[in-house]
Amino acid sequence: MVNLVSRLCGKLDPLSIDDYRENGGFKSLEKALFKMKPIDVIDEIKKSNLKGRGGAAFPTGLKWQFVFMEESDEKYVICNADEGEPGTFKDKVLLDGCPLQIIEGMLIAGYAVGAKKGFIYIRGEYPKSRELLIEAVDRLKKEGYLGKNILGSDFSFDIEIRSGAGAYVCGEETALIESIEGNPGRSRFKPPYPPNKGLWGKPTLVNNVETLANIPVILEIGAENYKKYGTESSSGTKLISVSGSVVNKGVYEVEFGITLREIIYDICGGLVKDRNLKFVQLGGSSGACIPADMLDLRLDFDELRNHGIGLGSGAILVVDENTCVVDFIKVTSQFFQHESCGKCTPCREGNYHLVRTLKRITEGKGSERDLELLKNISDVMEQCSLCGLGQAAPTALITTMKYFKEEYEEHLKGYCRAGKCTFKGGVLDD
Ligand SMILES: Cc1cc2nc3c(=O)[nH]c(=O)nc-3n(C[C@H](O)[C@H](O)[C@H](O)COP(=O)(O)O)c2cc1C
Ligand code: SF4
Repeated sequence: MVNLVSRLCGKLDPLSIDDYRENGGFKSLEKALFKMKPIDVIDEIKKSNLKGRGGAAFPTGLKWQFVFMEESDEKYVICNADEGEPGTFKDKVLLDGCPLQIIEGMLIAGYAVGAKKGFIYIRGEYPKSRELLIEAVDRLKKEGYLGKNILGSDFSFDIEIRSGAGAYVCGEETALIESIEGNPGRSRFKPPYPPNKGLWGKPTLVNNVETLANIPVILEIGAENYKKYGTESSSGTKLISVSGSVVNKGVYEVEFGITLREIIYDICGGLVKDRNLKFVQLGGSSGACIPADMLDLRLDFDELRNHGIGLGSGAILVVDENTCVVDFIKVTSQFFQHESCGKCTPCREGNYHLVRTLKRITEGKGSERDLELLKNISDVMEQCSLCGLGQAAPTALITTMKYFKEEYEEHLKGYCRAGKCTFKGGVLDD
């Protein structure tokens, strides 16, 4: 474990500007405002090789450059604090532990891309974090860290807090933008992308909480020192949210390059009651299910991509042998069916038919044809859905059909090795 981005969490009063300053807070903002041109800040972030921590791992400096290059007198910075991916609770640790660091990251981002206004879009289920942010913004305005001519510079910036209302899709950046605009949270067609046309049609930078919390750290220690953490392709650290059948669940900051095995057995103390691990779901409900014999995979964007796996939000759900894979996937698909915004057919209808088919299989009424159907529907959803929700909804299904095919086949014969599926009225009763 390492304490870099989260080093101040739990160590100071999250609302005390004095505490924050005493611990080096706002030094990076001062450095940016008074010693660096906006393009120098962007170059430093590019040099650090920071990639977005919200799920897509897009290079942060490059995204900032896209917004910077747009000519417009109105630009926006949005901090994505929706944190709706199941099993993900790491942004909350930063929001509650050090909101001033996230806001400092937003201020530096605003200065770099040429924005005067920012929004923090916070998950509706985090009311206390929201109150904290409102208070933090209020105090920062009084102390001259927000508003006109910040710290006596030419740079002015304000922040508004907006709250989600429980829709998972509103974490997707264009649905989030729709929601801030006061519209129903539905993803937009892309392109145009937010850096070109985002909030109210203006160039908009959307970054995750953790990404923004990295910014003051990078400017403080310098890109070269920052790159000493992690691996060649994945610099820095990652906050991971570990849940499921492990002894020590929680949020941990780790360096990229650590293996799943080290996380589960060295950091989290192994599985409860010494159970056997069946698989690990990486990146939340939209992530891949990785079997026990692949635990030596390292947290590294390239290494995971080479295996067709994404790190996503950094959620790690540990699932033990008592879980039925097919039942697990059915529940996952029900989540996506519920959260689909309904705008496009592959996701709206695809999730419905996945759930229907999986129900049939868990009830012992499935056939070989159903397995083919699951594959075909998943293919269409991955390739034709409008946004990441529908594209990633079948990932867990696809990976379990690859690594746990025999469990699906057993269900067709009326056998559930975990003993979860009852097969009432199904094959067993025939
Ligand atoms: C269905 C869906 C939900 C998402 N939820 C979140 C979220 O809760 N928080 C987040 O930061 N990004 C989320 N994203 C990713 C955002 O669209 C976007 O890529 C991210 O906020 C960009 O920030 P980054 O470059 O700092 O990672 C979601 C994407 C999809 C498709
Ligand atoms: S993929 Fe799903 S969530 Fe995304 S636009 Fe289509 S229906 Fe809506």
